[in-house]
Amino acid sequence: MPSKQPQPQQPQSPSRPQQPQAQQPQSQSRPQQPQAQQAQSPSRPQQPTVLVGVTGCIATYKTCEIIRLLQKAGARVKVVMTPMGASFVTAETFKALTREPVALEPIDSHSAPIHHITLAQEADVFLIAPCTANTLNKLAHGVADNLLTTTALATEAPLLLAPAMNVHMWRDPCTQESLGLLRARGVQIIEPEAGLLACGEVGEGRLAPIDQIAEKTVAEFARARDLAGKRILVTAGATREQLDPVRYLSSPSSGITGYAIAQEAARRGAEVTLVSGPTNLPDPFGCRVQRVGSALEMFVAAQGAFAGVDAAIFSAAVADFRPETRVERKIKKDTNLDADGSLTLKLVQNPDILATLAADKGSTYVVGFAAETNDVLAAARKKLATKHADLIVANDVSNPALGFGSTHNKVWFVTAQGTEESALISKTALARVLLDKVVAAL
Ligand SMILES: Cc1cc2nc3c(=O)[nH]c(=O)nc-3n(C[C@H](O)[C@H](O)[C@H](O)COP(=O)(O)O)c2cc1C
Repeated sequence: MPSKQPQPQQPQSPSRPQQPQAQQPQSQSRPQQPQAQQAQSPSRPQQPTVLVGVTGCIATYKTCEIIRLLQKAGARVKVVMTPMGASFVTAETFKALTREPVALEPIDSHSAPIHHITLAQEADVFLIAPCTANTLNKLAHGVADNLLTTTALATEAPLLLAPAMNVHMWRDPCTQESLGLLRARGVQIIEPEAGLLACGEVGEGRLAPIDQIAEKTVAEFARARDLAGKRILVTAGATREQLDPVRYLSSPSSGITGYAIAQEAARRGAEVTLVSGPTNLPDPFGCRVQRVGSALEMFVAAQGAFAGVDAAIFSAAVADFRPETRVERKIKKDTNLDADGSLTLKLVQNPDILATLAADKGSTYVVGFAAETNDVLAAARKKLATKHADLIVANDVSNPALGFGSTHNKVWFVTAQGTEESALISKTALARVLLDKVVAAL
């Protein structure tokens, strides 16, 4: 019986208006990127927005100076405070410094209707400085009990924390464990310094120098626009090779990595096309998403989107084989069988999407993924050489705690120049690191 012809869906229009073109911060030496082509949303300002979270401790007064430094670097700054933060420095001070309303409970008639979501979406970067032990520990566990912590949970912007606290609070196992969780999720911790603390004790816990906090935040919002004007194709998820209407061959790939890459690329200003196999994930914000089923469908969709892209990242777990025939009706136990009662499937090869498209890549930077169970690095190096890729991201999927379906991974970046091993990081952090490499290559 004939195989079903691939019928990729038409590209959908992006579900989010293009982000504004960020001004390059004054301290940045990076050359100006070309302007993004798409219309800008009139509702979004032209500057990158840094949301500054303020919590309750002695160092809170230093946030005023941090805000000035961020503004000097070209950022629009908005402030969200915890109630305790507001008892150290008043909201009026921050309102005057930022010339923006300050977000602080209780909610009143002047507050935006769903304030934490508006704040979360507006932020290009979320800096919490100073961050108390209380807020740090809450963030590590997803507690959302005030406007600041709720916004932190709701935002997709990169999160930077500059902790400040007593040395014993800092060294407490609970705080250290929370720091580990936050780092693994890709949260950037701006380490406190050791020295004489406000409480009179000596040790780690003093807020990092304010120029260092501002510098790291500026670097983050510069990064937030470093793919502006670039077009990127990402493939994600597994493909399904149907045997009959209700059964298929596939892999357990969840699509989390590819979606994280697409989301991060869009956040950094790229025009992203995501070609996705079936997943349970929602469309990443701001990406053009084409959902497909089989490897043949993915091939056609990826081929259609490949021409002229600046980078193509093939993270999908594409089935190498498909059944030669797709049976039109559900296979029954008493039909389609061999004489001995067994069922023979003949599998034929699917096209190699990475190798085929990369063979004609021109100036497109091509990234392939290698999910292997043995001889991971040897397989990755072979893939790099034979599939015309510029970079292979290799991982060992024999470890059930990593790779398919998990939120974390540990990978090797393999290029012609050598191999680099990553730490065990969240897939969001992996997306960030990978796109740093793409930006450097472009
Ligand atoms: C005078 C004073 C100074 C404080 N300094 C700190 C501090 O430096 N770091 C810290 O983590 N907590 C400090 N605290 C305790 C926090 O204010 C307290 O844990 C509070 O619940 C934090 O709330 P928030 O995280 O919602 O702002 C201080 C409290 C007071 C009264």
